[in-house]
Amino acid sequence: MIMASCIKGINALQGILSSRFHTSYPLAPLTSLKIGGMAEFFASIDNIGELQKVLNIAVNDGIRWRVLGKGTNLVIHDGLLKGIVVQLSGGFKKIRGYEDNRFYMGGGCPLSFLVKDAIKADLQGAEVISGIPGTLGGGIMMNAGTRLGSLGDLVEEVDILTKEGMMEKKKRQNMGFSYRGCQIGEDKIILGAEMRLKPGSDVRETVKAAIKKRHSTQPQGQKTAGCVFCNPEVDSAGRLIDEAGLKGCRCGQIEVSRKHGNFFVNLGGGTASEFLRLMEIVQNKVYQVFGIDLKPEVRIWAN
Ligand code: EPU
Repeated sequence: MIMASCIKGINALQGILSSRFHTSYPLAPLTSLKIGGMAEFFASIDNIGELQKVLNIAVNDGIRWRVLGKGTNLVIHDGLLKGIVVQLSGGFKKIRGYEDNRFYMGGGCPLSFLVKDAIKADLQGAEVISGIPGTLGGGIMMNAGTRLGSLGDLVEEVDILTKEGMMEKKKRQNMGFSYRGCQIGEDKIILGAEMRLKPGSDVRETVKAAIKKRHSTQPQGQKTAGCVFCNPEVDSAGRLIDEAGLKGCRCGQIEVSRKHGNFFVNLGGGTASEFLRLMEIVQNKVYQVFGIDLKPEVRIWAN
């Protein structure tokens, strides 16, 4: 139920965003896993001015806010998710090329856009994110990457919005990038970033090879949330899960992929509780067999 104190704010949001503001909005279709209940409120945001207004109303009215990218490393719980989910659209989805092999990408811009532009201009660097399905914002927050490298390596400077609505610029060295993370905090929003690539050759072939490898080792075209667990320092979570005999292990409609142990597949109609239960089963078994505590890589949204 919406609290009376929020009603004014909600009406204001409706006024600002019109048909881009929704109540009880289904989130499952917006994730690669196709799991999740309804967002209490959902807003598609086209520019920084709108985002500042929405954030201001949410913070003043005590409405919890979260930013959704392409929902590719995310498990959203099954019931009503309280608060407002915002998705960066419009101008946030754009990429623009500059001199000196630089590009400016909006926070909602798919990572694949950089890979495509890199191929066109024969620039090297973006192959480290080839085949990663997320957006720049999510990719920076999680320092998305492959064995070839991470998104953080390509970043020059990031534009960030604080929850107070202030804009900040941070150079790569102040972002605190680490394996699958950075230190800017979940209460900030990535507005966009300047990326820099290097002159290269045969970039198309390098990208093609990386994507081919990915297709041969990972379940593509199935409903997954990417890698479920982070790799422990000296091993691979997928190998450990495989060696523990967990491939094909099921909880309801969620199954440990038979192709790669660190992917869980929604066979159709799976739920977040089944996914989380399977995570627990896998963690317990891997701990029992190898004494290694697997840490989740997927983000979990619950109330
Ligand atoms: N392996 C197995 N069984 C499995 C899976 C893997 O034995 O079921 C073995 C492989 O044969 C290989 C080793 O484990 O010897 C490593 O596997 P792989 O090359 O597939 O890499 P990974 O460590 O499992 C990482 C990233 C992926 C990224 C790939 C390719 C993490 C947690 N995972 O996977 O990223 O696509 O390298 O570069 O860092 C993601 O972050 O969501 C993700 C999928």
